[in-house]
Amino acid sequence: MGRRPDRKGQEVMSSQDIPEENLPAERAADEHAHGAVSVADEKHPFADPGLPPHEHRIQDIDERAAKRSERTVALLFTLSMLATVGFIASFVAIPADRIVYIFPLGHISGLNFALGMTLGLALFCIGAGAVHWARTLMSDEEIADERHAIAAEPEVKAQVLADFKQGAKESALGRRKLIRNTMFGALTLFPLSGIVLLRDLGPLPEDKLRHTRWSRGKLLVNVNTDEPLRPSDVAVGSLTFAKPEGLEEHDHDFQTEIAKAALLIVRLQPENIKDKRELEWSHEGIVAYSKICTHVGCPISLYEQQTHHVLCPCHQSTFDLADGARVIFGPAGHALPQLRIGVNDEGYLQALGDFDEPVGPAFWERG
Ligand code: FES
Repeated sequence: MGRRPDRKGQEVMSSQDIPEENLPAERAADEHAHGAVSVADEKHPFADPGLPPHEHRIQDIDERAAKRSERTVALLFTLSMLATVGFIASFVAIPADRIVYIFPLGHISGLNFALGMTLGLALFCIGAGAVHWARTLMSDEEIADERHAIAAEPEVKAQVLADFKQGAKESALGRRKLIRNTMFGALTLFPLSGIVLLRDLGPLPEDKLRHTRWSRGKLLVNVNTDEPLRPSDVAVGSLTFAKPEGLEEHDHDFQTEIAKAALLIVRLQPENIKDKRELEWSHEGIVAYSKICTHVGCPISLYEQQTHHVLCPCHQSTFDLADGARVIFGPAGHALPQLRIGVNDEGYLQALGDFDEPVGPAFWERG
């Protein structure tokens, strides 16, 4: 009795090599159908060459081989379960800012690496287990189906249902309890990966969105030169962008903090400032406003020197810096928040506190 690998590398045996009493009962009866041929005639102009001889898998005739396959599938499902547990453990145990060196990827986030590897392994093992199960243990019957009309007759539907039930029976879910239990275990545990990720939706921001990095005494640092600003650095007609002293680009929360604390600084002639409070909160005509548009939060970057208007490029909201940065055009519903500034003993521009209202989109006004 000879065995040889098929095109996919699986061990197969030709039906001619197997004594008929070793074949599964339904297969032995089916053997005769595979050799069926028909000759061309007037009604069927093309001859039916029939199916090639069926090649049985080793698992169909050797129960020990079938048991080996069963254990392999169970092992893969079990590995998937362990990987899912590893995913959850990684999510809980590895700090978000842990950086590790992985060759050849270089320095990467240890948490992302662990989550990706464990989630990938969990999915792969479920897929590989299902494929191996289908290839080695599920029904290997070859069926030739005649073409028929698209709309199915009631008898056909009944037949499909019967075939489905037969397929479920032949998948041996009831008989192969080890596979069934480990598969249900893997499929039940796997969704937990998604559930633990919901933890990233918290914690609630509480009042963090209402405060920025600005506080009394923080120097205004030019974002382009990274140098603290003096009043003499801000020329009339120029637009300068600033960030709080101590906020560095390599800080892990830089993007979060700069999105709230970014400032635009303009020097006006004090006599041109119409708003009394704006004048009090300025220094020698230098005014500092939040750079974050109060419509939906774009960074404002266009300044009209003659009119003292700043323009948001997203939806053209326009703010008058000479009049408390009130909105004079566009969808923004709220003036830009002003930061109160002064100079310290060494002559550098400094904040005299945080913004006295939340920066950014004006949903604050609705509650
Ligand atoms: S975000 Fe500025 S106008 Fe819309």
